Amino acid sequence: MQSVQGTYNDKVVRQFAVMTVVWGIVGMLVGVIIAAQLYWPTLGEGIPWLSYGRLRPLHTNAVIFAFGGSALFATSLHVVQRTCHVRLLSDKLAAFVFWGWQAVIVSAAITLPLGITQSKEYAELEWPIDILIAVVWVAYAVLFLGTIAKRRVKHIYVANWFYAAFILAIALLHIVNNISIPAGLTKSYPVYSGAVDAMVQWWYGHNAVGFYLTAGFLGMMYYFVPKQAGRPIYSYRLSIVHFWALIAVYMWAGPHHLLYTSLPDWAQSLGMVFSLILLAPSWGGAINGIMTLSGVWYKLRTDPILKFLIVSLSFYMIATFEGPMMSIKTVNSLSHYTDWTVGHVHAGALGWVAMISIGAIYALMPKLLGRESMFSTKAIDVHFWMHTIGVVFYIASMWIAGVMQGLMWRATNDDGTLTYSFVESLIFTYPYYLIRLLGGVLVLSGMFVMAWNLMRTYGAAKTIAEQPLLPVDPSQARA
Ligand code: HEM
Ligand code: HEM
Repeated sequence: MQSVQGTYNDKVVRQFAVMTVVWGIVGMLVGVIIAAQLYWPTLGEGIPWLSYGRLRPLHTNAVIFAFGGSALFATSLHVVQRTCHVRLLSDKLAAFVFWGWQAVIVSAAITLPLGITQSKEYAELEWPIDILIAVVWVAYAVLFLGTIAKRRVKHIYVANWFYAAFILAIALLHIVNNISIPAGLTKSYPVYSGAVDAMVQWWYGHNAVGFYLTAGFLGMMYYFVPKQAGRPIYSYRLSIVHFWALIAVYMWAGPHHLLYTSLPDWAQSLGMVFSLILLAPSWGGAINGIMTLSGVWYKLRTDPILKFLIVSLSFYMIATFEGPMMSIKTVNSLSHYTDWTVGHVHAGALGWVAMISIGAIYALMPKLLGRESMFSTKAIDVHFWMHTIGVVFYIASMWIAGVMQGLMWRATNDDGTLTYSFVESLIFTYPYYLIRLLGGVLVLSGMFVMAWNLMRTYGAAKTIAEQPLLPVDPSQARA
């Protein structure tokens, strides 16, 4: 083994890991508030910055970019250092990425409740913030890819491939979708118009799902599942096939968000076909993760972190089975505009994205604090059950509500008139909104358990020292 002097930059990883929990609580709290507003529509009435239309984008931005983003930054910057056996390219750049991203989040948290928005879903932030995002993102790309470039081992572990694809694709999507002409500091107009604007927006929106909410978290999966299971990934060959198949197929599926619109018919059909194909790489990757437990399934009984990681993959399989089905035009004619879509979104977001992130942060934090485990393993187990039951309440209620809404809206009488008025469908939906709210409260309460556990783990850490670089096997070393 070749030993080398030096340490890893664990500070930036710790900072992002802590902010994952903080922003998770904030984003999910706003989710609970808007879920309550759908049940009690007069909640916050008369206060513009508490209106549903302003809080909803605040929720999506906070959970995706602040919570999910922090988890992705924390884990990618940890994984790239440990698998490349080097310290990050630059400490100053790392600090810039951390503080720059926090500045983006705070700007979003101020402007969205004030009603300042581009009105493009998941790309609501106005042009000055978009420019800041682009600058921070390029710095992140340089930091991550620069660290890979100075690696001490020959091989680039597959998790880094997924993270790198996520970083490069998001830079491309963000810049292209946000090209606009400013009309003052808080207002701009996109350069695209009509159906072209819609297509660019959903090329962005869908690939934000594919590369941000999927590829980045798959990077997390490929590192933390084998690490926590204490086994190598089930099939390394499959992971490479998984990577190229996912990257090649995702980019074409965006039009499934615009079925039955003025988008050309061929583009809609193309989106549908590629969405159906997407089932194969998605399930292949998930199975690769789950089968890593071959021979050590018993660990699931005692390790709640592993439970988070593996159950997240089950939700990933649910969402990626459901998505292709919803892309079939005739199915979409039932599901579109209904709460079924919202159920699908949260199977992916709360089941897959949040659970893999929570599991990874639980796995990571004790190591960064020089401990064997978190302060309380029992509390992780309690959190696991609160989260899982909460997600099931959420998605099952939305599936039932969604299918019911779709069927009620299309029901007609013999004379061709509608069987139900819209308000009738809303009345039937009411109980399901209450169940979703309960699910959300459970999930949010679980996050508080996590915050408590994290604080106690910090409190019990003797010293927080940076860890020395690991030695490299000479046969693996780079010349
Ligand atoms: C306590 C947990 C959560 C609750 C209670 C919650 C609640 C909600 C509610 C009520 C909506 C609006 C639905 C509508 O307009 O009909 C929504 C939308 C959304 N949420 Fe959450 N949410 C939670 C967690 C998350 C997480 C962790 C993520 C992502 C990682 C997420 C991503 C989204 C997205 C992408 C949408 C927009 C869906 C669409 O446009 O179809 N949510 N959420
Ligand atoms: C094979 C993979 C997937 C396919 C083919 C797929 C397909 C779809 C379809 C057809 C819709 C409904 C479009 C509409 O009627 O408006 C949709 C919505 C959505 N999906 Fe997926 N999905 C997949 C996986 C996922 C995953 C894993 C996540 C989250 C992590 C996710 C997040 C979303 C979001 C956020 C929306 C709502 C977009 C909006 O209208 O605001 N999807 N997806």
